[in-house]
Amino acid sequence: MLRERVKHILQQGREGQSVTVRAWVRSKRVSKNVAFVVVNDGSSQRDLQLVVDANNPSFGKLEEVSTGAAIRVDGVLKKSEGKGQDWEVHVDKLDILGGCSDDYPLQKKGHTLEFLRDIAHLRGRSNTFGAVYRVRNQLAMLIHEFFQGHGFQWAHTPIITASDCEGAGEMFQVTTLDLNQLPRDATGAIDFKQDFFGKRANLTVSGQLNGEAMALGLGDIYTFGPTFRAENSNTTRHLAEFWMVEPEMAFADLQDDMVLAEEFLRFLFREIVRRCPEELGFLGQHYKNMTPEQIADLGEHAFGRISYTEAVKELSAAKVQFEYPVSWGIDLQTEHERYLTDTVFQKPVIVTDYPKDFKAFYMRLNRDNKTVAAMDVLVPRIGEIIGGSQREDRIDVLRQRMMDVHINPDDLAWYMDLRRYGGCPHAGFGLGFERLVQYVTGMANIRDVIPFPRFPQGVAF
Ligand code: 4AD
Ligand code: MG
Repeated sequence: MLRERVKHILQQGREGQSVTVRAWVRSKRVSKNVAFVVVNDGSSQRDLQLVVDANNPSFGKLEEVSTGAAIRVDGVLKKSEGKGQDWEVHVDKLDILGGCSDDYPLQKKGHTLEFLRDIAHLRGRSNTFGAVYRVRNQLAMLIHEFFQGHGFQWAHTPIITASDCEGAGEMFQVTTLDLNQLPRDATGAIDFKQDFFGKRANLTVSGQLNGEAMALGLGDIYTFGPTFRAENSNTTRHLAEFWMVEPEMAFADLQDDMVLAEEFLRFLFREIVRRCPEELGFLGQHYKNMTPEQIADLGEHAFGRISYTEAVKELSAAKVQFEYPVSWGIDLQTEHERYLTDTVFQKPVIVTDYPKDFKAFYMRLNRDNKTVAAMDVLVPRIGEIIGGSQREDRIDVLRQRMMDVHINPDDLAWYMDLRRYGGCPHAGFGLGFERLVQYVTGMANIRDVIPFPRFPQGVAF
């Protein structure tokens, strides 16, 4: 008999069907004549109830069937007369695959998210994290579906790199040098020629630069992989290791980029509700998240649009007191972003044409010489989830911008080549995957939407 997934049984079960279930025990209730064991195998938000008759030889084993144990059951599926479930399995045979010590930390009572974060190796067995991880999985699949459906090709860009895409110097270094005995050159500086790659290398902060090279050959591409930032920010929105989705389009400008970003997110909002209705229902009920209907509804409406300059006017006119004062030229802080989404627009909003001074070197300079063809997508409660731009395709302007921010164009000669050999207008963006999962699931802390989060002083599990 094949193992049946609980999700499958609950969706497509037939009265009288024989089933084999392998799952973990959530709870157990034993009385004189009968015992009820509630199990879950991770496939479904809903649990499955098992019924063991006192006459059954397996009844004696129930002593060891404690919360957390892994069991295997053969039985028959029947419509349930009890409250709370449609189906139950009447057990013929029960085996314990793995018992569970009685110090198992996940008991039936609700636990705080902070407590569960300390047992990240076990939290996937809780209702909350089961829901979050299933939503995360489905969002990842939908991302591929969207891009593949639009003719974009998935490009694999390197994780180890010698360039700093965002120019922010927030990189983790990769080296095989002996840190206790660093080789020195004639001037006394560390001799990276002796390092594994013959030069300094680091973990990538973004796949974009390689993504541009791929787009300027394949047309439309996207990357989807892990990225790393050594920002020392202990916030609810930052991770040291996070996943990014980066589409890049040849023959496209900022307008095309915004259209793509909006279509993409609205598709995800509509479709995730169809894929994970029970998970999102559960999260909506327990975490003051949007209801599934509200999430789907986000997909039905146009996002707000505003330029940075107009946004600064809105913020300056606001009646609230911001911690960081607003004037033209400042980088928008989370409190400003949230004022725009939560108060002014009350929906996702795209902010465009930021001052060049705090944006990356690769963004296309606008005609005013002060702003760049950039766009950020902000969503309520979270702020920025997408950052993107049209790329600077004029080699002279690019070279000047690099020199202005102390990046040596010679170090990125291959990137400059893309402007010399059939360069063209092109644009793209990066979606922070965990921020998307955070928005959709309603989790307040980004550390609760990735199974094993990495952050300053945090590399457990
Ligand atoms: O705005 P960012 O820095 O843009 C880039 O990296 C571009 N190269 C993207 C591109 O145009 N191809 O990062 C993109 C997104 C942010 O909007 C945010 O959602 C997320 O990545 N992000 C983080 N998410 C979690 N933890 C962090 N430390 C993050 N830093 C950025
Ligand atoms: Mg950004």
